Amino acid sequence: MRKLFIILSCTILFLTGCTTPKQEKSALKYVDEPHSYAQPNEAVITHLDLDIVVDFDREIINGKATYKIENNNSLQIILDSKFLKIEKVYADGNETEFLLGDFDEQLGQPLKINIGKETKNITVYYSTTDKTEALQWLSPQQTADKTHPFLFTQGEAILTRTWIPIQDSPQIKLTYNATVKVPSELMAVMSAENPKKKNYNGEYHFKMQQPISPYLIALAVGDIEYKAISNRTGIYAEKSMVDKVHYEFSDMEKMVSSAEKLYGKYVWEQFDVIVLPPSFPFGGMENPRLTFATPTVIAGDKSLTSLVAHELAHSWSGNLVTNATWDDFWLNEGFTVYFGIRIMEALYGKDRADMLALIDRQDLDEELERFKDTPDETKLKLNLKGRNPDDGMNSIAYNKGYLFLRTLEETVGREKFDEFLKKYFQKHAFSTMTTEKFVAYLSENLLEKNQITFNTDEWIYTAGVPGNQAIIKSDKFDNVEKELKQFIESNAVTTDVTRNWTTQEWVHFVRNFPSDMEQKHLAMFDKAFDLTNSTNSYIAMVWYEQAVNYDYHGNNVDAKIENFLINVGRRWYVSTIYKAYKRSDKVKEALIIYNKARPNYHSVTANTIDDLLGFQK
Ligand code: BES
Ligand code: ZN
Repeated sequence: MRKLFIILSCTILFLTGCTTPKQEKSALKYVDEPHSYAQPNEAVITHLDLDIVVDFDREIINGKATYKIENNNSLQIILDSKFLKIEKVYADGNETEFLLGDFDEQLGQPLKINIGKETKNITVYYSTTDKTEALQWLSPQQTADKTHPFLFTQGEAILTRTWIPIQDSPQIKLTYNATVKVPSELMAVMSAENPKKKNYNGEYHFKMQQPISPYLIALAVGDIEYKAISNRTGIYAEKSMVDKVHYEFSDMEKMVSSAEKLYGKYVWEQFDVIVLPPSFPFGGMENPRLTFATPTVIAGDKSLTSLVAHELAHSWSGNLVTNATWDDFWLNEGFTVYFGIRIMEALYGKDRADMLALIDRQDLDEELERFKDTPDETKLKLNLKGRNPDDGMNSIAYNKGYLFLRTLEETVGREKFDEFLKKYFQKHAFSTMTTEKFVAYLSENLLEKNQITFNTDEWIYTAGVPGNQAIIKSDKFDNVEKELKQFIESNAVTTDVTRNWTTQEWVHFVRNFPSDMEQKHLAMFDKAFDLTNSTNSYIAMVWYEQAVNYDYHGNNVDAKIENFLINVGRRWYVSTIYKAYKRSDKVKEALIIYNKARPNYHSVTANTIDDLLGFQK
């Protein structure tokens, strides 16, 4: 009887396209994911062997990708691909059939590969195309040293599929090895064990032995050098930048050891940072073992290194415990903002941490205001189905996420909260997390245990900021506000009170101009502090934003703004300035600059600014 039932159910399942009974839905390892075509519960990749050539003349990467797979009796495996040319596919060494499905603007195309139930490996021969969004090919002119070209990749959120065919969902984790051939004058580095010197023949071998999500696979190629900070930290940069970068980031080993004291061992062995050319679209990207960073943080005085603390913190929140889907993005970024600020506090004290937290709090208010007509965007748990995950990657995930965790910390006390977080990272290392799973873990391991009632659901599943939010204050900023008021009222500045101001105080000063401030005061401040020519990119950026807001044109600031927008591709910076143009009804002026700047931008920055300014490609 039982046998008959199995035969019968197998026949039915066979006819409906499955071959054997699958696991119960609740026991499935992977959740439904709107941003990947992969069906990992059927067949999943576990390891990648990449063998590629980086061709700077044709601006393409080509080669082969071989995957180890785990097959749950499926006759097909689906990878994600976008703007790739797929040449041939093999299953266990035999050429096999494949099909590229319909193209979707966001997701690209499913690459459906025929396999047998016993198939262990598949190999895809492919090349990238001129549409490939992850890659930015830079001319020598766009680099610091101006003599060699440069290439870097950006995988997060769903761009890895544009340079490697892959199951591009954050809930899938794989190890990888790579062989990368580059012109012999250049060096290649990846999110893996890296060379510290150039190889005379331009061939580099990489190993990432810990499982990581596909968005963390990264490559940079350029005329770069390495300089160690400690036996497990160091920097890569172009020659003319090496010493400056080394000085700027010289506290990196201290950051790693403070982070370890907080939330457990740094498990990735090496923590290096590569400083890329200025078109890099982010402040930083937490590629495991090798953070990618913008040169705009090299201020000369270590004042913008909270970026390094943030990317380092991702070694726990993000790279070790990873958001399962992009709807859970706040689990990556909110935790990382919290952890990053804790690292800064441990190294530089409470004043610095308070200032960083308060700037974030003000950014959150701006974002809440921006979304006042679309309040669903201000929930922590998102629903990005049918949308580009980039749409959800705004200040809400970062700063409402931070405020939630800080409020929790203040409610339960730091000691208990730290103990909880440490266990959380330990227990879920090398796995992925959904918001729902986190909420359950939180109530069981922190709230119920300590008999604390907390409005977790309100924080996570509803719009806006709940009433029990932690109040963030900074004495330093209170003082800045007092001085600003005083300068305006007296029509004079006293530079001895500003002499020891940090970058954060200057940023606060500039961002807090009253809305009725007069031109003469803008001119007075510019004359006294030469804000237009600030060599600190953050101060310059907020000043340029205000110059646009207040229609200030003194000190040749317009030429400076244009120059900044053309050279810097950091999305947050340039979008802040373009937004100011838009708010002030100056889209036409912005477009004149943007036409010149756009060719220098990476696709993620260009896409954002295209939308913002209504730019027609
Ligand atoms: N992981 C992000 C960068 C990112 C976010 C890339 C979304 C692609 C999609 C990185 O850790 C980050 O948050 N960078 C920030 C800096 C940070 C100090 C807030 C940035 O680039 O400004
Ligand atoms: Zn981050």
